[in-house]
Amino acid sequence: MDMIMRRTMMCGEARLGDVGGEVALNGWVQRSRRLGGIIFCDLRDRTGIVQIVFDEDVPAEVFGRAEGLRSEFVVGVRGVVREREAKNAELATGDVEVLARELVVYSEAETPPIYVKDDDNVDENLRLKYRYIDLRKQKMQRNLAFRAEVCRIAREYFSGQGFTEVETPVLVKPTPEGARDYLVPSRISKGEFYALPQSPQLYKQLLMASGTDRYFQIAKCFRDEDLRADRQPEFTQIDLEMSFVDVDGVIAVQEGFLAKLMKEIKGVELSLPLPRLSYAEAMERFGSDKPDTRFGMELVDVSGAVKDSEFGVFADAVRGGGSVRGVCATGGSEHYSRKDIDKLTEACRAHGAKGLAWMRVTDEGVQTSFSKFFSDEGLALLAGLFGAAQGDLILLVADSDKVVFQTLGFVRCEVAQRLGLIGGGAGSGMGAGASAGGGAGAGAGSDVGMGSGAGSDERYEFLWVVDFPLFEEGDEGGISAKHHPFTSPAPEDAHLLESEPLAVRALAYDIVLNGNEIGGGSVRIHDRGLQRRMFDALGLTDDEVQSKFGFLLEAFRYGVPPHGGLAYGLDRLVMLLLGEDSIRETIAFPKNQAAEDPVSGAPGEAGDGQLEELGLRLA
Ligand code: AMO
Ligand code: AMP
Repeated sequence: MDMIMRRTMMCGEARLGDVGGEVALNGWVQRSRRLGGIIFCDLRDRTGIVQIVFDEDVPAEVFGRAEGLRSEFVVGVRGVVREREAKNAELATGDVEVLARELVVYSEAETPPIYVKDDDNVDENLRLKYRYIDLRKQKMQRNLAFRAEVCRIAREYFSGQGFTEVETPVLVKPTPEGARDYLVPSRISKGEFYALPQSPQLYKQLLMASGTDRYFQIAKCFRDEDLRADRQPEFTQIDLEMSFVDVDGVIAVQEGFLAKLMKEIKGVELSLPLPRLSYAEAMERFGSDKPDTRFGMELVDVSGAVKDSEFGVFADAVRGGGSVRGVCATGGSEHYSRKDIDKLTEACRAHGAKGLAWMRVTDEGVQTSFSKFFSDEGLALLAGLFGAAQGDLILLVADSDKVVFQTLGFVRCEVAQRLGLIGGGAGSGMGAGASAGGGAGAGAGSDVGMGSGAGSDERYEFLWVVDFPLFEEGDEGGISAKHHPFTSPAPEDAHLLESEPLAVRALAYDIVLNGNEIGGGSVRIHDRGLQRRMFDALGLTDDEVQSKFGFLLEAFRYGVPPHGGLAYGLDRLVMLLLGEDSIRETIAFPKNQAAEDPVSGAPGEAGDGQLEELGLRLA
């Protein structure tokens, strides 16, 4: 057996103050090279890299062993810290090196299939297959530590606010969130299945009926959905529920959490209360229920000005109950050639738009894709509605409000990206959230300080979207719950449940960060009569209600407090705070686009014996 060298410091820690001291280090060989009679070896662990030097003074057998070192060998080194002659400003340890005396090779390594280098642009599938190597990267270790820190702060805050952390079951009845369930066959009750929870929703409501008063959990959720950069089939929520609260009561506690989080992890002071936008206003102004307010470019409704025009596309849309709206990209004209606009138009079709009309304000007047239908004065008037000036580009969509909002919400963000309006600089946002101050938060005394790289151009615009509609139109006619069937209607709208359900607003809210939904929740229905009317509005029969959520309704017969709650998407929150653009960068072992785990190869076939035991036969 190897001797285990008992380490005295981490690789990323050595500084000038350590010069002269003896240290013992353990880690992976980043690279090793021989220059004349000297071997230089970069030793790495999760905290950083330090240079190790083997020279002619070390015993010959140690030198011999050092000659055999290759990348990713796992070793222990004992030696003395000394000042480096040629300093390396890129390394936190770059002022010093360790002159080795002893070397233990714990494990040799074959040539790794991927490099352990943050900026290595290797194919993501390969990264995911060799995730244990990928995770050796400083960036990935920093991401894992950052995520753990977010969880620590959540636990600390919510515990301090009287929340009890409670685990809820993972083998459950299907939950009502509306995505496809993952099913688990029961061996004992053949032909029956558990579902993996899409969220702990029903159980956290049961906990309120149980008198737990305030519950939280860092909970795994499972949804068999089509994947995107911000979606995983299994993801994590910071889930919570509170008794005896209204919307303001839930929001106030959340703002305390977000303020603490931003302060500790980013050194940012959030100014509270956070702005609130009604769903209707968010759609009107930004075309989105998760608006990015780091830049302006708000939607302008020009329906009135074009409804009587000769341009059928515009006039018909307004006459048909829809609208014509647009956004004005200040100075945008030069950023968009005809071809670029064609490409953007194509992308808009995916959002249901039939086209994208454009106007450019030039020194020779207004050029548009629909000039023949308007006089010069008419075009100037239209451009005036946007406050457009020379060099500006206006993009317009005519359709039902739904398509107009969805398309322009997309266009707005696309154009802002291209014009560089997102991120640094003085954006014309709502001045809502906060900008990162100089000081990064809790440093960890090494290269992997929390929020390291928090440039002063990072902006965090949090806002609440409130007053969501209770229902939305379903795909096959009918209506479905926009949030879930336990969300309470706004009391002042409840009388419309039967007559005009789509006009009913909900006591539901989403928390949005930089144009991303990072959490959502609602005040729940605790009145059985109201819950019954809700199910009726959804067209659920007694049998369906009974089989799906009978146990919750039964619980509510025995005394239930008014309650409400919320769940944050932890992966998304961490992604945004890290400045990553995929939640996979925040998850140790994520699924790929095909919902497979590339490390283990899951999902896999079950053995015949297993299927038989479960009473299952493959079709
Ligand atoms: P909701 O379905 O809105 O609410 O989920 C809450 C938050 O979870 C995140 N999220 C996801 N993150 C990654 N991958 C996914 N597939 C995924 N789906 C959702 C989002 C979202 O805002 N039970 C309710 C909460 C409540 O009412 O208290 C619920 O689950 O950031
Ligand atoms: P057309 O008359 O079809 O040549 O279209 C003239 C311009 O209107 C083109 O730029 C089209 O992309 C645009 N357009 C067509 N349909 C719509 C629509 N529903 N909304 C906005 N622009 C549209």
